[in-house]
Amino acid sequence: MSKTIIISNRLPVQLQIDNGKITATPSVGGLATGMKSVHSGGDSLWIGWSGLTDDEIPPGLAPEIDKALAKHGSSKVNLTSEEVDGFYYGFSNRTIWPLFHYFLEYSEFELESWEIYKSVNQKFADAILEKADDDDIIWVHDYQLMLVPQMVREQRPNVSIGFFLHIPFPSYEIFRTLPWRKEVLQGLLGSDLIGFHTYDYERHFLSSVRRLLSLEVSFNDIYMDDRVIKVDSFPMGIDYKKFRDAAKKHDENKAEERSELQKRLDMHKANQPEAKFLLSIDRLDYSKGIAKRLNAFEYFLNKHPEYKEKVRLIILAVPSRSNVPQYQLLKKEIDELVGRINGEFSTVSWTPIWYFYRSMPFENLIDLYTSCDIAWLTPIRDGMNLVAKEYIATRTDKTGVLILSEMAGSANEMNESLLINPNNFEEISEALFQAINMPKEEQQARNAILQKRLERYNVEKWANDFMTSLLNQKQNETQHKSR
Ligand code: ADP
Ligand code: G6P
Repeated sequence: MSKTIIISNRLPVQLQIDNGKITATPSVGGLATGMKSVHSGGDSLWIGWSGLTDDEIPPGLAPEIDKALAKHGSSKVNLTSEEVDGFYYGFSNRTIWPLFHYFLEYSEFELESWEIYKSVNQKFADAILEKADDDDIIWVHDYQLMLVPQMVREQRPNVSIGFFLHIPFPSYEIFRTLPWRKEVLQGLLGSDLIGFHTYDYERHFLSSVRRLLSLEVSFNDIYMDDRVIKVDSFPMGIDYKKFRDAAKKHDENKAEERSELQKRLDMHKANQPEAKFLLSIDRLDYSKGIAKRLNAFEYFLNKHPEYKEKVRLIILAVPSRSNVPQYQLLKKEIDELVGRINGEFSTVSWTPIWYFYRSMPFENLIDLYTSCDIAWLTPIRDGMNLVAKEYIATRTDKTGVLILSEMAGSANEMNESLLINPNNFEEISEALFQAINMPKEEQQARNAILQKRLERYNVEKWANDFMTSLLNQKQNETQHKSR
């Protein structure tokens, strides 16, 4: 029987070793949370990096590590610290991530990290080749592994390979600045099917293929040698039921079952029932627009002083890629901004911003989603943004307002939210005003539509659509070859 092999840099869990003891924590980020739901329901093997470098693993513990990962249906690719530096902190997150999110000025083009990216991609491809049979389906994920499809194809010409990009694919004018642009495209074209979150990313990719490789492209089919590669958009959904059920359970919790965080939120709500809680949850990443959001909050408080002591902004920023200098600078900028704004506006009974720089357990995410009146997400560029979808799914009584940047892929499917341009403080300030004053019936009417859509286009449907399309493509290709 054929199996599905999922391959991504991150596994569903990250391993740590404390005093010789192995612990696993869930990985953060849209790819891991989304694919985890798909993986847990099916018969798949997930190959990726454990989060530990070779020199962090004491030799005696290697079998234990394999066992710990096997519990999560996973198998690891070993990386040295030099490889992690060049591949992960280097080419993936100092070159591709900024470039594909239109932060051209942050992109570094270094031959050495490109060489390491290539060799680490080969390691991932070898790990697949070791485990895969010819009739298996291989599903490669994200920008860290764009050369893997071609590397696998060279060894296994007939195997089915799908690739999904979880971040934006930039316009040709941006993509063409990459010195290794042709190699990256050729790497991706080893796939039978290439998926993106939105039609725009798909269009940008096809345009780059046409202009840089001069290949024949007809609608969303690319013709290369005797192969046909299909390109399509598949907007990723969430595990709707998981979030809705967790929120329902949360609603039913008795007072003593509530978390410390929830008790504190309840206490503040009881003291000031009319005050509104605004929420933002992101990895601490410059693409998420956290610093701009803080500036916009200050703008709002100055423009609408009547809301002083009536609104509170909760910022949950999850530590991310902290070895990359831009992330360190951003952390400093955000710390300073929060300090300055709180210093300027706080009163004895009110601190405008609650800032958490940490990862929180799932239960606390649900506490925050269910307790906050407004979710305020302002990415400057975001492949999808699942947090926006998760917030709506947890609103069991359908109240709550979502303010969402139109630069997030999810904005295409969430027209009933208040869409804003993250660079337009005036527009953001108006949206905040509108959200704070939106009648309950209007909130419920908007969320009813959003919830229906999210329930229907959940992550399971996303994965099934992708898989069905991949299998159909393989059949079409076989027919094309036999003509
Ligand atoms: P990105 O993939 O860029 O990080 P998304 O919004 O698409 O952005 O996905 C973030 C995912 O990470 C969501 O599924 C969210 O639930 C999860 N997440 C965010 N913050 C935390 C946290 N503190 N602890 C655990 N999971 C988190
Ligand atoms: C985004 C990327 C993922 C990545 C995640 C977390 O969602 O698309 O590939 O795993 O961010 O980032 P990290 O660098 O911690 O894996």
